[in-house]
Amino acid sequence: MFINNWYAACVAADLGTAPMRVRILDCDFVLFRDASGRAHCLSDTCCHRGASLAAGSVQAGRIRCPQHGWEYDASGRCALIPQGSRDGAHPPKRARVPAYPVEERYGLVFAFLGDLGPDERPVMPDLLPEYATGEWYCDLIRRRKDIHYLRMAENYNDPCHVHYVHEFGRWLPKGVTIETEVLTPTYVRAFHAAWDAKGRWGREQGLMMEYSVIGLLSRNTNLQPGYPRTIVLASVTPIDACNTQIFMLLLMPKADATEAQHRALVTMTEKQVMDEDYAVLKTTRPVLAAEPAEELLVESDLTLAQVRKMTLEFAASQGEIDQEAWAPVRQSHIRVVPCPEHRTDPKNWVHKLLPLRPRRSSAVAAAAAG
Ligand code: FES
Ligand SMILES: [Fe+2]
Repeated sequence: MFINNWYAACVAADLGTAPMRVRILDCDFVLFRDASGRAHCLSDTCCHRGASLAAGSVQAGRIRCPQHGWEYDASGRCALIPQGSRDGAHPPKRARVPAYPVEERYGLVFAFLGDLGPDERPVMPDLLPEYATGEWYCDLIRRRKDIHYLRMAENYNDPCHVHYVHEFGRWLPKGVTIETEVLTPTYVRAFHAAWDAKGRWGREQGLMMEYSVIGLLSRNTNLQPGYPRTIVLASVTPIDACNTQIFMLLLMPKADATEAQHRALVTMTEKQVMDEDYAVLKTTRPVLAAEPAEELLVESDLTLAQVRKMTLEFAASQGEIDQEAWAPVRQSHIRVVPCPEHRTDPKNWVHKLLPLRPRRSSAVAAAAAG
């Protein structure tokens, strides 16, 4: 798991002025909307005595801690200490919690969990321009699975499992050929053309797979003759090292599909397809994403191998959480993901930062920063 990326935190329609707690990167965050409807994300742990801010309430754009009523504004600064302080309206500088940038996209709330300022922050590419057109049926599924987030992302970019794992895919050809490919340090797009019975392939049947490490977004566009085009966009958010929150959007074009067809796709995905993936992924070892040297990847695994490589390279350049250093202290200490204000004002914080592994600079980070 690593910092300095956009992570899908919740479904936008689920978030109102009532605070919501979410767990990402093995840390707790609180999300809430102010009176104008703008979403905010703060570290969830009150810097006074450690209560969960998500258990409090929001009034006039401030979140009030449930234990002693300290009020934090959207920037994470404590704006009011109602008692026990000589001047409650002017709390000490250290009375603050980290605040993280937020962006709403595709009906989801994404939080940027890291300390990069606006000029350095990677931009999430628009992998789903169809979403805003209104010309597609669109539905959203959310699932939590005890699978490593990178294993999930690799699964969405593995064209050859479909035939074996999924009931709906039994009739699909077993073979694929990577016909076209676009590859940057943080994005890959490859068309996996499906073979016909004679081993031929063309552009009319297969899976277009796209992955962006920024936002951990995977898009599959499924092309089958005689069936409406389907798009699946999945965002995988690491809850912790072993659990993943999946947000999946399913789209079909209104021009080619009926609403009933789309509904059937959503129901099948929710009730069957995701469970079929899970049943196999649960058996794979090691539990965390594998080392390439401990697998034998072949040509048709190229895209998923690129997904892994670019994700791990990006992670190493942005700041991987040092699990070994954190594990021994996690029961007795609070550690937080750094936020942009940690860069501009590194002193005067109550909670210390998560331990990170030494960062490796790479072309990936340079490319992401534009
Ligand atoms: S623990 Fe939050 S105000 Fe005291
Ligand atoms: Fe699958």
